Amino acid sequence: MKKSQIAPHTPVLLNEVIKGLEGVKEGVFVDCTVGYAGHSSKILEKYPKLQLIGIDRDDEALEFSAKRLEPFTNRVKLLKGRFSEQLKEIDFSSVTALLADFGVSSLQLDKRERGFNFDSPTLDMRMDQSSNFSAYDVVNSYSQEMLEEIFKDYGETKEHKRVAKAIIEERKKKPIESSKELSSIIQKHTRIKGKIHPATLYFQAIRIEVNRELEEIKDLLNLLEEKQPKGAIIALITFHSLEDRLVKQRFRKWSKSCICPADSIRCSCGNNNNIGKELNRKPIIATTEEIACNLRSRSAKLRLFRFND
Ligand SMILES: C[S@@+](CC[C@H](N)C(=O)[O-])C[C@H]1O[C@@H](n2cnc3c(N)ncnc32)[C@H](O)[C@@H]1O
Repeated sequence: MKKSQIAPHTPVLLNEVIKGLEGVKEGVFVDCTVGYAGHSSKILEKYPKLQLIGIDRDDEALEFSAKRLEPFTNRVKLLKGRFSEQLKEIDFSSVTALLADFGVSSLQLDKRERGFNFDSPTLDMRMDQSSNFSAYDVVNSYSQEMLEEIFKDYGETKEHKRVAKAIIEERKKKPIESSKELSSIIQKHTRIKGKIHPATLYFQAIRIEVNRELEEIKDLLNLLEEKQPKGAIIALITFHSLEDRLVKQRFRKWSKSCICPADSIRCSCGNNNNIGKELNRKPIIATTEEIACNLRSRSAKLRLFRFND
């Protein structure tokens, strides 16, 4: 195998996703985050009657996927952009399965110039490199209150006030130019020590803000709620509690048969309001074997939902 063909990303919960889609034999499978086609290539192999629409906002990922998916060319359509936008163009009447594997890919994380890394020489963090808004803009132009808010809301950090203040003080001297500088400022101004790098949650918060990550998930769930593709299986993989909460709450809402107020004495809603069924109450997580081979899988959670026929 040529070096250029080795995928820079190992798909998480691959067997579990394939098994979850067992009921799907034909129609259109939408991979909202096709990345390096780790999931998609296996799914096309396993289900020969499925057509794929693969979406990603990262050009590097799409270029790699286009090559990897060459053996399936006549069954594949790749779209560049945010899934919240691209999905609006799709005819949901033939969609039988949809996957989203949220978050960043290993390549985005590992390639230092992409700015996601603690020692990156840039302050970027854009998944879509053609976007004109990056971590540099957040760190160097947001007010102290705005920084506090994103750290608190998207990082659930404890020392957001102190860290936001330190960033404002530092940037008065000169703009903060790199993730490396930023992580050392954060490290210097946090007191709580834990197992993870002190900048982890602050970086997570900035990344979410730059890429509108939670808004994208909400938009996807809203669109699915509107379209309700008949019989389709929806497989969503999340990597932290903010993402998982959004998916879990929406799947619970969609599965609810009785929607009477909690204090009602008897049911008067008809008790038939569910639009589908959660295929697993508890999220599916990686086995110890998978975690040993791919550390990134340790925080992955897969939830599956099937819309009514
Ligand atoms: C975890 S990786 C997916 C890896 C893929 N499942 C595989 O096996 O190769 C996430 C990918 O989704 C893309 N992505 C994340 N959010 C997106 C969004 N809102 N719209 C389009 N692509 C997105 C990222 O650019 C990244 O390539």
